[in-house]
Amino acid sequence: MTSKTKVAVFISGRGSNMEALVRAAQTPDCPFEIALVLANKPEAGGLATAQAAGIEALCVDQKPFGKDREAHERAIDGALRERGIQVIALAGYMRILTPFLVDAWEGRMLNIHPSLLPAYPSLDTHSRALTAGETEAGCTVHLVTAGVDEGPILGQARVPILPGDDEHALSTRVLEQEHRLYPETLATFCRALRS
Ligand code: GAR
Repeated sequence: MTSKTKVAVFISGRGSNMEALVRAAQTPDCPFEIALVLANKPEAGGLATAQAAGIEALCVDQKPFGKDREAHERAIDGALRERGIQVIALAGYMRILTPFLVDAWEGRMLNIHPSLLPAYPSLDTHSRALTAGETEAGCTVHLVTAGVDEGPILGQARVPILPGDDEHALSTRVLEQEHRLYPETLATFCRALRS
């Protein structure tokens, strides 16, 4: 049997996308395993969830590094290499990366973003889409490159924006698609990596 691709999932908060990836990885023919869940702050709720699922949950706290984001990333990179990680999946990791980590993991780092990129990069995607009167929203999985939310798109899922939608209703509808899209896209990506 070929071994599974070792994925590290990066989180900053509740980690519902991380949970969807963990669930997918538990199916026998999934080409990836979640070998590590890594957070940049100790209060990230997803750390406990990962631990409860029997996955190593590691916090590389950004605080002691102050403004030196590259030193923080060097510590992260060391932890990834020690564990033989092959692919990074950013899942609600709310810290902009420096060229150090982006370059080190070029072509092997994915991100999920709650909009139909290239529309609405960065923050507050749902409120901006609602204010603009859009009739459609969605989510995107893309490769991470130097520009924020600009890398090549690997997959997208669309949802309608319905009359009366507020941010909560829309984000819930999009999140449901994120939980389907991310595992599917990561699996396709990992299969392509091996072939
Ligand atoms: C998700 O909606 C994800 O797409 C978004 O943060 C949320 C994290 O939720 N990511 C970004 O906005 C990145 N720019 P989760 O912690 O429950 O997965």
